[in-house]
Amino acid sequence: MSITSPEELLGMQAAGSVVSLMLGAMTSAVRPGITTLKLDDIGAAVMKQHGARSAPSMVYGFPGSSCISVNDEAVHGIPSGRVLEDGDLVKLDVTVEKNGFMADAALTTPVGEVSDEKLRLVACAKRAFEKAMRVARAGVRVSEIGRAVEREVQRRGFSVIRDLAGHGIGRTIHEGPRVPNYADPSSDEILTEGLVITVEPIIATGSGKAYLSRDQWTVMTLDHSPSAHYEHTIVITKGLPMLLTAA
Ligand code: CO
Repeated sequence: MSITSPEELLGMQAAGSVVSLMLGAMTSAVRPGITTLKLDDIGAAVMKQHGARSAPSMVYGFPGSSCISVNDEAVHGIPSGRVLEDGDLVKLDVTVEKNGFMADAALTTPVGEVSDEKLRLVACAKRAFEKAMRVARAGVRVSEIGRAVEREVQRRGFSVIRDLAGHGIGRTIHEGPRVPNYADPSSDEILTEGLVITVEPIIATGSGKAYLSRDQWTVMTLDHSPSAHYEHTIVITKGLPMLLTAA
């Protein structure tokens, strides 16, 4: 959506703050021995408490409140009895609807003690997001976001998962434009003031190729290399973007 009134901004900020609260509660509960379903329950309790609903389950019938993906699961993992182990990377991806507005964010949390490579991967996803924030402003092509993301990811020796992209958001989860994490020449749309999009580097230590698992939801890395994800919902302005899902 493109925000055109103070009411719409307030609505999006309210949805964004629920996302942020859920991610905070879920992240603090991450430890070896907890199941991904338990993390989902913790997020769902915060969501209900704030009068929000799970957007993936509303819009797509996703079987869970949040998407929780571990290691080589890149995105859209289904909360389950899977027990998190020391050394895992867990990705928490939360999209809610509140009063007709939707916001989306994700982060990657190390479980216990993880390898240096995994820590560098997690830092890289966040850093690539921050690099994108410096170019994402009104008047710039959408492809500049992907250019900034992929440049940073490649510089650090990792790969972008090109099949997965950011997106417009607001009245539903996936709106236009598509926001790739590489300089896709077809992403020549110009960012405009008030446009709401997600920016979400989804990266891997390996090739970046991915496939849809047999559960028909979880996207996995083809070479089973670990992946990391960092995402916020932002509003495009003339200057630095406004982050709707940051605490
Ligand atoms: Co998203």
